[in-house]
Amino acid sequence: MKVGILTGGGDCPGLNAVIRAVVRKGIFHHGDQFVGFMEGWRGVLEDITTPLDLNAIAGILPRGGTILRTSRTNPAKKDGGLDACIQTLKKHGLGALVAIGGDDTLGVAVKLSQKGANVVGVPKTIDNDLSGTDYCFGFDTAVNIATEAIDRVHTTAEAHNRVIVVEVMGRDSGWIAIYSGIAGGADVILIPERPFDVQEVAETLKRRHQRGRYFSIVVVAEGAKMATTPDAVTIAAGKDEFGHVRLGGIGNVLAREIETRTGFESRAVVLGHIQRGGSPTAFDRMLATRYGTGAIDAVHRGDFGKMVALRGTDIVTLPLSDATSRTRVVGQDLIDVALGLHDRAPAQSGVV
Ligand code: F6P
Repeated sequence: MKVGILTGGGDCPGLNAVIRAVVRKGIFHHGDQFVGFMEGWRGVLEDITTPLDLNAIAGILPRGGTILRTSRTNPAKKDGGLDACIQTLKKHGLGALVAIGGDDTLGVAVKLSQKGANVVGVPKTIDNDLSGTDYCFGFDTAVNIATEAIDRVHTTAEAHNRVIVVEVMGRDSGWIAIYSGIAGGADVILIPERPFDVQEVAETLKRRHQRGRYFSIVVVAEGAKMATTPDAVTIAAGKDEFGHVRLGGIGNVLAREIETRTGFESRAVVLGHIQRGGSPTAFDRMLATRYGTGAIDAVHRGDFGKMVALRGTDIVTLPLSDATSRTRVVGQDLIDVALGLHDRAPAQSGVV
């Protein structure tokens, strides 16, 4: 069978490992040929392709980024965009398309499926907030990077008697913040799921310092909101083709507020795209490889309109729409783990 592959949305460590697994299993076990679409849905919309054979994928397993590059192009936003995509798939004589992406990319895959395209999805986002799957590849790498950063700022915060606020990614959910915050021993974790009161953050840190501690680490997800303001802090005006604002800056806002309200010298560190770059962890390479082999097997079962997912320890397939219908948020169980490590009531407060 001739199969197309694309990677869409924000990049994420493990994308190349998925591509490699799809192509190797497809060529060695199913006799497939592959076409790579460049830069996500833009490649399908504008018919920009690259040959994808064993040579093209040699050596890419440990590489970050994606050899197919990526974009946030939304064909549904262009006049006749979805039909143009269907035409491209027909022109190349493709029996199937493997779309590797998050809710935006897979949302387009749902629309193309409804128009008759044979699409199988692979869930991807370092934010780990896609419903339907227990883990997205790339998340583990991001958590490891953030945890190492928290370990590093710990020693400098301690040396200078400072509060250091570490801003991590997480648009609608605080998975990276809560995992790295717990793993790195943060004193306060702030997540989008729970709007927080700045004064309460300040009081929490004051109590800690009254107990004899002289430094603190706060981890905040970029999408965390103050209870008094309805919107998250943004770094630039405008929205992308899927309607997302560019988040960023809450760390600096918070560090200033903490310093003003407590008198403790404070600094902010924004990890940003460092969390998305570089080599995937062994866990993410494994997960990406299992997703890739699972996706090409799904193609040959004719399991279209589905995505591969991790449920417990098993790779399963489920409807693409399950991934895009809602955001998977941090549950109370993990919040209780974080709260259990500190002298705070598990109240309705936003300070985790
Ligand atoms: O959706 C994943 C994500 O990493 C978000 O956490 C972040 O807000 C966004 O992508 C940033 O993407 P970019 O700067 O590439 O547009």
